[in-house]
Amino acid sequence: MIRPLIERYREYLPIEPGDPVVSINEGSTPLIEAPAVSERVGARVLLKFEGLNPTGSFKDRGMTMAVSKAKARGAQAVICASTGNTAASAAAYAARAGMRGAVIVPQGNIAVGKLAQSLIYGARVISLDGNFDDALVIVRHLADNFPIELVNSVNPYRIEGQKTGAFELIEELDGPPDALAIPVGNAGNVTAYWKGFTEWDTSPLLYGAQAAGAAPLVIGEPVERPETIASAIRIGKPARGDEALTAFDESGGRVRSVTDEEILEAYAFLASREGVFCEPSSAASVAGLFVHGIEPDSDAPTPETIVCVLTGNGLKDPDTALAASEGVIECSTDLSEVEEAVFGDRPA
Ligand code: F0G
Repeated sequence: MIRPLIERYREYLPIEPGDPVVSINEGSTPLIEAPAVSERVGARVLLKFEGLNPTGSFKDRGMTMAVSKAKARGAQAVICASTGNTAASAAAYAARAGMRGAVIVPQGNIAVGKLAQSLIYGARVISLDGNFDDALVIVRHLADNFPIELVNSVNPYRIEGQKTGAFELIEELDGPPDALAIPVGNAGNVTAYWKGFTEWDTSPLLYGAQAAGAAPLVIGEPVERPETIASAIRIGKPARGDEALTAFDESGGRVRSVTDEEILEAYAFLASREGVFCEPSSAASVAGLFVHGIEPDSDAPTPETIVCVLTGNGLKDPDTALAASEGVIECSTDLSEVEEAVFGDRPA
């Protein structure tokens, strides 16, 4: 059935009868049982694979709303700062809406697939000699001073669209999970899930995960020079940080950090044991359970069912996958050599 996210949840979204719906059939992503992860953490763990959205990340949920509302207001162009996924999504929805798109990304710190996407969708891609936090300051200035719509998650419609992830979980599980594990960068997604859960009168524990080199919410202050291999969440000054901290607190959950090494271990585990290939940043949610266990910071009961939000598709970042894996085995057409390559010991 063809059902854009805005149609599926129209009655819960601020969309007016005459508004255009700019959709590429986002949302309705699969919830996947994760037996190997479950065994390792001692609870039933399910993976909400947001990497199967049209541009390969959860950003499409918010972007269908933000671009539809921008079009309703007659905007001709959209802009965002991005570590890559928001850029790809904004570029795609702008293309779909017949609008111009401009995206500002941190030079040298964006996965190659995200760059390729943004370019082929036809956006103007600006590579900034600065980080995401610098880019966000600049796009806010541009949106304040020029006729161009800002579609970062500071735009309230992004949060509205993204809250539907919580609705899908409640519907699919006939109630909320006991806990939601989620990577945190600019803190829009966790804010959106919490809005969705509370609108439907539920309050699962929220377990946020930040990369150790970019963990402002864990250390309690901004990080001037964020660093992590998980480039999607390489953010030191999250725009919705305060809201996210309130959400963690209200839920009785927690926000913790995980090292790049721990992120990469969870990333390879998900691919090799569950057959699910997500981005390194997405794997931070699972790494958080592996490293810190499943107990909440409050006196809430230990969760029995935990959903990990896998925010983006692993195909976006082939470089990290190749670097994290054993290499290919080169071989001639000689049959015995091929036999040795297939069945013999791996060359050192
Ligand atoms: N996971 C992925 C794959 C992301 O791309 C992002 C954010 C997050 C997690 C964190 O979500 O920012 O709502 O807390 N990416 C943004 C971008 C910053 O520009 O694509 P958040």
